[in-house]
Amino acid sequence: MQWQPAAKLREQFLSYFEEKGSRRYPSFSLVPDDPTLLFTIAGMVPFKPYFLGLKTPEVTRATTAQKCVRTNDIDNVGRTARHHTFFEMLGNFSFGDYFKAEVIPWAWTFLTERVGLDPNRMYATVYRDDDEAADIWRNSVGLAADRVIRLGEEDNFWAAGPVGPCGPCSELLYDQGPAFSCGSPDCAPGCSCDRYLEIWNLVFMQFNRDEAGVLTPLPKKNIDTGMGLERLSSVVQQVKSDFETDLFRPLVDKACSLAGVSYGAGPGSDLAVRVIADHLRATAFMIADGILPSNEGTGYVLRRLLRRAVRFGRLLDLREPFLLELLPQVEATLADPYQELLRYRSTIAQVVDLEERRFGRTLEQGSDLLEQEIGCTKRSGGKELSGEVAFELYDTYGFPVELTEEMCSEAGLSVDQKGFAQAMERQKERARASSKQTCATMGSNAYTELADRQGPTVFLGYEMEEARGTVLALLRDGVLLDRAEEGETAEVVLDRTPFYAERGGQVGDQGTLSGEGLEAEVEDTVHPCGDLVAHRVRIRKGVLLPGATLEARVDGARRGDIRRHHTTTHLLHEALTQVLGDHVRQAGSLVSPEGLRFDYNHFAPLTPEQIQEVEDRVNEQVLKNLPVTTRETDLETAKALGAKALFEEKYGERVRVVSVEGYSTELCGGTHVCATGEIGLVKVHKDEGIGAGLRRIQATSGRASLRWSQEVSTVLRDVTSLLTVDPDALCEKTASLLEEHKALERKWRQALLQTELMRLDAVVMGRKRVGDVEVVISFYEDLDTDLLRQIGDQVKGRFPSSVSVLATKNAEKFLVVIMATDEAVAKGVHAGKLAKSLGALLGCNGGGKPQMAQVGGKFTTPLKGPLESVPQMVAEQMKG
Ligand code: GLY
Repeated sequence: MQWQPAAKLREQFLSYFEEKGSRRYPSFSLVPDDPTLLFTIAGMVPFKPYFLGLKTPEVTRATTAQKCVRTNDIDNVGRTARHHTFFEMLGNFSFGDYFKAEVIPWAWTFLTERVGLDPNRMYATVYRDDDEAADIWRNSVGLAADRVIRLGEEDNFWAAGPVGPCGPCSELLYDQGPAFSCGSPDCAPGCSCDRYLEIWNLVFMQFNRDEAGVLTPLPKKNIDTGMGLERLSSVVQQVKSDFETDLFRPLVDKACSLAGVSYGAGPGSDLAVRVIADHLRATAFMIADGILPSNEGTGYVLRRLLRRAVRFGRLLDLREPFLLELLPQVEATLADPYQELLRYRSTIAQVVDLEERRFGRTLEQGSDLLEQEIGCTKRSGGKELSGEVAFELYDTYGFPVELTEEMCSEAGLSVDQKGFAQAMERQKERARASSKQTCATMGSNAYTELADRQGPTVFLGYEMEEARGTVLALLRDGVLLDRAEEGETAEVVLDRTPFYAERGGQVGDQGTLSGEGLEAEVEDTVHPCGDLVAHRVRIRKGVLLPGATLEARVDGARRGDIRRHHTTTHLLHEALTQVLGDHVRQAGSLVSPEGLRFDYNHFAPLTPEQIQEVEDRVNEQVLKNLPVTTRETDLETAKALGAKALFEEKYGERVRVVSVEGYSTELCGGTHVCATGEIGLVKVHKDEGIGAGLRRIQATSGRASLRWSQEVSTVLRDVTSLLTVDPDALCEKTASLLEEHKALERKWRQALLQTELMRLDAVVMGRKRVGDVEVVISFYEDLDTDLLRQIGDQVKGRFPSSVSVLATKNAEKFLVVIMATDEAVAKGVHAGKLAKSLGALLGCNGGGKPQMAQVGGKFTTPLKGPLESVPQMVAEQMKG
C-alpha cells in the first residue's frame, strides 16, 4: 500500500462522495445547536433535525470532514494508540435517499480502489439479524461468508446519545497483521485490540429513541457514516498509533524537543507528549469556535484540557509556559482546511498563554497543598482525599476535580466524590439563600397574587411617554394598602403604563403620576414579579386611592439620556466584537441616564489603541445617523437574523429584535433612539478587569458626554491659566515643573541634613555611656527614615561602639530609628529588640535587625520619657 498524507485522504473522501451526488459542507462548529449535547461528537450531529424529519434539508446527500470533540474517555487519551479528545470524522449522509444497497459497495470501493487497502485483509461486521446488510456484503461486494461477522447491540447498533436518531450499523475492519494483536488465543475479528481495526462505521439510521428507550421508526431511512481520519491515516501510513501519523508527528516531535526527550524512549514521557499534543489540538479548535475558559459547560472542558496539558508538561519538567511554542505545529498540520486557526490565531494564542500562566501559578500553590494533604491522609492510614480539600482545590486554586483525582491516583489515593459534591452543593445553597432574601423583601407574595389575578401590566412606553392608567393596587413593604397620603411612599400598580421598569440592565423610569388633587413623584419603576410593573412613588399632594385614574408622565429628558445610552451599548457591543474577536459576549450591563457600563468576556486588558478603535467605530456609526428599528418575531427567526442574545436566558416564544441598520442586531426589550445621530458624542471613560476573563467598560453619550467635555475643558482652561501656557505645551510644562520640583527637593534635603549635622556636636555631647557603649538620643521635627539613617551613619562614624536612637515626629505620626554598630552588637546590643520594647511603651509595633530597627505609629503620647529609658534597656541587654 502506498503512503499517503492525511490531507490527501480527507480530500479523496470528500470528492469521492461529491461524485456520488453529495453536497460537500465545510465542518460545522464544535459547539452544536443542540441542547442535548455539549460538543459535536460525530459528523451526524449538525444533521440531526434532518434525520428526525423536523426540518427539510437543502439536499438529500451530504458529505463532511467534521471537527469533533469527545471527552468521555479522557483518561485513556495518550495511553492508547487511538483515543483522542479532538478528532476529524469523515462522513457521508443520506436523508431518505440512498440506503444500504448503495452505501456498502461505495464504502468498499473507496477503501480498496481509491485508498488502496488490501481487500484480502478486510472484514465486515453486521448487526445480528441484519440479513439485508450481510447479503449485500456477500453478494454485491463478494466478501466470503467467514469475513462477514454478526455482532450484538454493543458493537453494531449506533446512537449519538441516550435519546435521538439511531440504528443498526455495519463496520469495516482491516487486519493489520499479527504484530498488532493482543496475543490472546481468541483474538479474531471483533476483538477490541488493534489487529482487526474498525475503520469505518456505516449507520443505517432508521429509528428515534425516546427518553423511555422506546424505538420509533423515523419517517425515512437514512445513512450516517463515520470514519476517523486519524485512524485511517495510521493504517495507510502503516504506523502503530495515530500519534505517529503526519497529523500529529510535527506536534509530537516539537513537544519532545522542548522537553528534551525522544519519542518512544519511555512510556511516561510518551504519554505526556501525546496528552499535550491531543489537548492542544482540541483547545485551539475550541477557542476558534468561540469557547473561553470558565467554570461550567464547554468553558470548563476547555479549562480542564488546558490545565491537563500544563500539568503533563510539568511531568516532563517543562516549568515555564510552553504551549504557545506548539501552536505553530497545530496550524501547520490543520490550518488547511481549517482556516479558523489562522483567523483566530491571536485569540487562540492569548487565551492559551493567559490560562497557562494563570494556572502555572496556582499549580505551584495548589500542588503544595495537595501534597501536604496526600501526606496527611497516607500517614493516618487513609485511602481517600477528603471532598472538602478537593473542593478547596477546585474553588480556590482552580484545580478541576478530575485533575485532583489523577494526582491522587498517582499517590494511590482516591477522592471522596460524595464529599466534593456536598461541598459544592453547600456553596450553591449559600448563593441561593442570598438571592432569596431580595425576593422576600420585595414582598413577592402579594405581588405574585396580583400578577396571577391581573396578568402583566400593559407597557406603552415604546411609543409614548405619557398615558392614562387606573390604579389596580397600592402596596408598601409587600402589604396591600387602601390609601396613601401626602408625604407617604407607596408602590403603585396601574393597568397600563408608559414607565419602563428596570430590566435587562436598563434602569427604571422616573416621572410623575397625577390625578384629581393628586401629585406623586415616581422615584423608580420595577418589576416585582414577572411582567407586573410597580411605580415607587412619594406623594407630594393629595390622597392616592385604588381605582383612581391617573395621568402617568415619564421624565422625557431622563428617558432620552437612557435611550441614548442603551443604543450606545449595542454599538459598543458590536464594536468590541469587531476589534477584539467573536468571543466577546455580554456578561451584564447597566444603562442609566448618567452613563453605561458593559461587562463582557475578554482575557486581557485593552490597549489604548484598542479603546480608541472601539470609540472611533462607535462614533462612526453615530455620524452615519443609521436608523434604529425594532420588530417582534420568534426566537428561531431572531437567531437566523444573527441577533446577539444571551440565549441561555429564557426568552418567551416571541422576542423583540433591535437593529441598528447594517451594524448591529440584538434581542432586547429596552428603549432606544430612532436613529444613531441622536446619540451625540460617545466617550469611553474606563476599561477594567472585574474577574477572571471578565472586563467592564464604561462610557457616556449625549448630554453626559457634553458635560464631561465641558468639565474637562474647564479643568484644562484653569490649569493652563495657572501655568500660563497654551494647552499644547501643558505636558511639557508639567514634566519640567516635576523635574524642577525633584531637583529642589534634593537640594532642600541636603540643606536640611547639613543643618542637622551641624547640630550633631551638641547632640552627642548629651550622650550616655553604658559600659563602653555610647547611647545617643536625639529628637527632630518632620524628617524621614532616610535622613535619620544618614544622621545615624555619622554617629556610627564617630563612635565605633554606639547605639543611636533618633526620633522624629509631625502632627500625626512619629518614627524612631535605632542603629547599633557591629561592636555594640558584639557586646550584646540588639536594635530590633530595643525597638520592640520601645514599641511596647509607646503602644505600637516595632522591630528589626540587631544593627538597624525602627518603631513608629500615631503620635499620641510624648516620646521623651520612653526614649530616655533606652540606656537602661541597653544596660540590661549587655548584662545578657
Ligand atoms: N455516526 C457514526 C459514528 O460516529 O460512528
